[in-house]
Amino acid sequence: MRKPFVAGNWKMNTCADEAVALARAIADAAPKEGVDLAVCPPFVYLRSVAKALDGAWVALGAQNMYFEPAGAFTGDISGAMLKDVGCRYVILGHSERRHVFGESDELVGKKVIAALAAGLDPILCVGELIEEREAGKTMEVVERQVRAGLAGVGADGIGRITIAYEPVWAIGTGKTATPAQAQEVHAAIRALLATMYNETAAAAMRIQYGGSVKPQNAKELFSQTDIDGGLIGGASLKAESFIAIAEAAL
Ligand code: PGA
Repeated sequence: MRKPFVAGNWKMNTCADEAVALARAIADAAPKEGVDLAVCPPFVYLRSVAKALDGAWVALGAQNMYFEPAGAFTGDISGAMLKDVGCRYVILGHSERRHVFGESDELVGKKVIAALAAGLDPILCVGELIEEREAGKTMEVVERQVRAGLAGVGADGIGRITIAYEPVWAIGTGKTATPAQAQEVHAAIRALLATMYNETAAAAMRIQYGGSVKPQNAKELFSQTDIDGGLIGGASLKAESFIAIAEAAL
């Protein structure tokens, strides 16, 4: 039985005080068992959010990193730095990184390897554009992203990965994939993992859904066989809605 995992991706939102207040409010009221929880604030607030979460059940994650361990990479952040400030998770290959910042499948794969090497647990995001879905290419795109994202991950690392299926057309748009549409892709990802690794690894993998998850639709999405919680954007910026979504995963 997979334990659900709900993570909040705060994206480029909050100021210092809001970040700490939001983390505290979540830590105070979030369910303490039955679901794994994480919040992923902007880099500059990781340290203060880590302190705010101290001793809480809620884990800390970052939204991105670079694959090199150190050096002349102006403006970027290494996995070791994230580990150093208390991160357990790192979101990699988010659609905004792929489509706004032009990250390639290959780059995302390198980041996954580097994150594991730094002792972080990657949340690997995959998902198709609306044109790709309409052209019947959803699984082709998702398979390519999963294969490239996990290209350097062996049997020893696969248990530390979470996959987040986030159809790009559902992110921040208010349009959610229907539970059936999401379940279809989640099941296909799990079948793909069984061919890439083995049945046991595939059955153990947590696959989150992301894209306009709200308290109103979370329960139906999370009750699908292959949906193991969610990666939450907009609704993770209010403690009340994030907690309601976390409770929907129980
Ligand atoms: P959303 O974002 O919940 O605001 O659609 C999800 C995500 O991008 O992870």
